[in-house]
Amino acid sequence: MGEFELLIDFHKNTERQGPGSEDDTLKALNFIEFDEGAKLNIADIGCGTGAQTLTLAKYLDSRITAVDLFPEFLDILNLNAKKYGLKDKITTLEKSMDDLPFSKDQFDIIWSEGAIYIMGFEEGVKKWKEYLKIGGYLALSEITWTTNSRPAEIEDHWKKEYPEIDTASGKIRVLEENGFSPVGYFYLPESSWEKNYYKPIENQFEDFLTKHKNSKLAQEIIEAEKEEISMYRRFKDYYSYGFYIARKVK
Ligand SMILES: C[S@@+](CC[C@H](N)C(=O)[O-])C[C@H]1O[C@@H](n2cnc3c(N)ncnc32)[C@H](O)[C@@H]1O
Repeated sequence: MGEFELLIDFHKNTERQGPGSEDDTLKALNFIEFDEGAKLNIADIGCGTGAQTLTLAKYLDSRITAVDLFPEFLDILNLNAKKYGLKDKITTLEKSMDDLPFSKDQFDIIWSEGAIYIMGFEEGVKKWKEYLKIGGYLALSEITWTTNSRPAEIEDHWKKEYPEIDTASGKIRVLEENGFSPVGYFYLPESSWEKNYYKPIENQFEDFLTKHKNSKLAQEIIEAEKEEISMYRRFKDYYSYGFYIARKVK
């Protein structure tokens, strides 16, 4: 197995592929106003195995197109959608987020948890906007500084990993400059990182190494995950995922 296949194999066994929780998804949803009785057309971009897709489908009268580049994740989402009786509401689409076959004004809501960074926040906002109706909503979670200044070590780390990292005011400015009216912002609590993401992946380190016979590549993947977790535990006061909810006004 190459690095990509190993990474998919590592991440497909947990409920989430990034920090988040059902409470966070519902909290974000709470900022969105929609007409009583309307059937909502939603895209969930970079859905992974679809923890948030299932939550949206459970609570909304909706048709959801759940997009991810990797069919291994979508297969799991399809199985779970069937298991929870939500198959009629969810259609999966194996596509890259920068090459979507959507039409202008197609969606009422575009949702994306922990994935827009792959295109870059600003690029994603600009590109996905065209698929949203006027009055439709973007709901995005994105790595965000939670303080105005921070230790050089964590600043340097994130500037290297993702130069677009910014404070919430910076992200909100991008939304405003692109014709959106921000209606809500909050950042994810520690439990969404630890209990829902890091603990489950830590619990499978040993099994993963055994399964892949302690290969060098498997060990490198685990070391990189450990490094990420250690950074979070040392510097969690300075960053989190921000959740941004914004209405398209023009
Ligand atoms: C950090 S995970 C978040 C997954 C899920 N939204 C969650 O919060 O659990 C990012 C997701 O983006 C997907 N992805 C990576 N590159 C992509 C691309 N070019 N187009 C669409 N999805 C992509 C990955 O497969 C992964 O499922």
